[in-house]
Amino acid sequence: DWTMAAFRENEIAKVREQVGSGKVICGLSGGVDSSVVAVLLHEAIGDQLQCVFVDTGLLRAGEAEQVVNLFRHHYNIPLVHVDAGELFLGKLDGISDPEQKRKIIGATFIDVFEAEAKKIGGAGFLAQGTLYPDVIESVSFTGGPSVTIKSHHNVGGLPERMNMKLVEPLRELFKDEVRVLGKELGLPEEFVSRHPFPGPGLAIRVPGEITREKLELLRKADTIYLEEIRHAGLYHDIWQAFAVLLPVRTVGVMGDERTYDYVCALRAVTSTDGMTADYYPFSHDFLSHVSTRIINEVRGINRVVYDVTSKPPGTIEWE
Ligand code: XMP
Repeated sequence: DWTMAAFRENEIAKVREQVGSGKVICGLSGGVDSSVVAVLLHEAIGDQLQCVFVDTGLLRAGEAEQVVNLFRHHYNIPLVHVDAGELFLGKLDGISDPEQKRKIIGATFIDVFEAEAKKIGGAGFLAQGTLYPDVIESVSFTGGPSVTIKSHHNVGGLPERMNMKLVEPLRELFKDEVRVLGKELGLPEEFVSRHPFPGPGLAIRVPGEITREKLELLRKADTIYLEEIRHAGLYHDIWQAFAVLLPVRTVGVMGDERTYDYVCALRAVTSTDGMTADYYPFSHDFLSHVSTRIINEVRGINRVVYDVTSKPPGTIEWE
């Protein structure tokens, strides 16, 4: 009968057979899928695997360090950490349209990734964390909606251009099964059960033009919010929770002083697949506590609002 332990052994054997003595490049994002692929492949082919982590400068506080620590130091998986924040922020300078942000980030990501793959050289294979729903979606796409609400980016086109074959060991799995496999492989619980995080990262959580200053404010508010959600034991009841830094400043009062600072919106939703979602019904006490902490601890934010829109008609992300 089917067990995750058997699936793991079987996939390892399949990867060994497909790859032989070839070299495989795997893009790490810090998310569950690519992490599970990397650990599984490392078990199968050891140092024939080379991971590439493109740090877009659009990640949350501490995330890049976590990825490097886990893979390079804990697992000893060969990892190139490409610190491309300056490049990404430069290209996004002055850009406020959400779809344009996505296109720029997607194209820049592919350029950086391709340059790294060339530097590594001689890799005949590219590993991807494609899941079963991605496989079905691309097959049935012509029957799908004709309107693109938000374009998601991946490394599409890259394998062909670089003449690389795809290695996709998760093709038969659903997200919850990937989490089980991750546990089976010994990935830390906090990695395996993470909320989804969009490829364009914090760029789509700063509506309008992105600046370093705004990203810093957002990181601080987001860290406090997530810390309180975990502390209250609510993290696993929620599909996704995050802060958004609005491009609006409002008047407030702090002590005897007038303030004129940014507004931070908090979002939390429940969902099973991200296609539809309900806002999470936090208690007033919880919301007051988080709001007080953010305003007291993050200089530059003086107002916090909670988003009570479900999907549809809202989307989960604000952009
Ligand atoms: P929306 O905002 O469309 O989000 O309701 C549904 C799910 O998709 C994620 N999302 C993205 N993921 N690239 C991604 O990789 C994107 O451009 C993107 N936009 C939204 C969102 O975080 C949620 O999980």
